[in-house]
Amino acid sequence: MNKFVGKHVVIAAMSVLAGLASTVQAADIIGNAKAGQGKVAMCIGCHGIPDYRTAYPEVYRVPMLGGQNQTYLENALHAYKKGDRHFETMHAVATSLSDQDIADIAAYYASQTSSSKNNPDK
Ligand code: HEC
Repeated sequence: MNKFVGKHVVIAAMSVLAGLASTVQAADIIGNAKAGQGKVAMCIGCHGIPDYRTAYPEVYRVPMLGGQNQTYLENALHAYKKGDRHFETMHAVATSLSDQDIADIAAYYASQTSSSKNNPDK
């Protein structure tokens, strides 16, 4: 009988902990510019070239990211991910990013200046 009660207490405690852990995680995503630097490899092909224009899905000027506001960048990536902001290639890119990736990347680009040309070596 005692054993049975003990097991229930443990399970209850574990589910409380699990609940806490997920709340903390959601509120606790902080962008890390250093981590972001390692995550922009797939962005550089388009965003790393000054005045670059994409050929697909249409000819389009690719915006510079370096030096933009961190919150703005995060919001833009979440909007692409959710489909609130429409651009096919950016939707595909953003869908592959976790919330932490987005925070890190935004912190990284925000820490640059517009003259660093989105180049990770600068
Ligand atoms: C295939 C080319 C391509 C790749 C790869 C790409 N982007 Fe983009 N990105 C674009 C284009 C084109 C736009 C402009 C679309 C629009 O106006 O909505 C854009 C827009 C953005 C914007 C909004 C900028 C603004 O001024 O509003 C952000 C933020 C962004 N990209 C981040 C990224 C990140 C981070 C990566 C890598 C994880 C990435 N992009 C990879 C082509 C690309």
